[in-house]
Amino acid sequence: MNLLTQVLHLVGSGATAYITAANMRDPKSRPNLLAGFQLAESGSVPFLEALSQRAANEGDDWLAEKLAKHAQDERRHGQIFAHALKQLNKQVIDFKSLPQETRDGKPDERRRSPFFEAYYEGYDVKEIFSPDRMDWLVFMGSTYILELDACKDFVRMANALPDDPVSQNLKKGMMSIAKDEEGHASYLQEAIERRLGYFGAEALITEWRTRKVNAMVAMVTNLLKKGGQMPSLAMDGVPSEVAEGMLDPDGTGEVTGKVTAEPIAA
Ligand SMILES: [Fe+2]
Ligand SMILES: [Fe+2]
Repeated sequence: MNLLTQVLHLVGSGATAYITAANMRDPKSRPNLLAGFQLAESGSVPFLEALSQRAANEGDDWLAEKLAKHAQDERRHGQIFAHALKQLNKQVIDFKSLPQETRDGKPDERRRSPFFEAYYEGYDVKEIFSPDRMDWLVFMGSTYILELDACKDFVRMANALPDDPVSQNLKKGMMSIAKDEEGHASYLQEAIERRLGYFGAEALITEWRTRKVNAMVAMVTNLLKKGGQMPSLAMDGVPSEVAEGMLDPDGTGEVTGKVTAEPIAA
């Protein structure tokens, strides 16, 4: 990593830590942030399950098992955020109901991610998100960096939450999520080292760290162009299909600290 990338990494992680923590603390912006996390966490489950199946087919049982556990963890994370939204009387927007394009013919902003476009720059996105064809090292390198940073980000955001009981419940859930993300980063690092050795792994990780810094710059530039407005991902109301059984077994609408603080599916 060159000096400029290193400086941008420090500035970028400081700035996003500040922005996400402030958005989590503010009750007005919290639902949108939670909805974004629910979509990201739940959305990764089928992909991870398919990758686990592929690793098993390729005879890598160690990796297949780690990916299956990873998928279970992400499902639980999605449920924690869905429950937190429900307690705020909000739910994630239904993406299927969104138009592909806005009235002026441009792609709907909520379907685009300037961050991911820049992060995977140079790769065919269809190829990247196809579990049958995805290059294992691209998956491992890119996911390792995201998991490592997610762990620190979730701790910071959890600590920024106010003191009311609902927020404190979410805080416990987010702390347990952060612990899982740390575990994901750790097995991915091991997986890369199994394939490339220590020095090869260091080089791959540096490449993805550099890509992340560049992608953050792209995302912030895009955000500034829109005057700091994030696309809305949350809407009012509670969907009936929220997996209450997992987080709210007695149907009272209350999640006990014990339930959110401990892995449910893992
Ligand atoms: Fe997660
Ligand atoms: Fe994760």
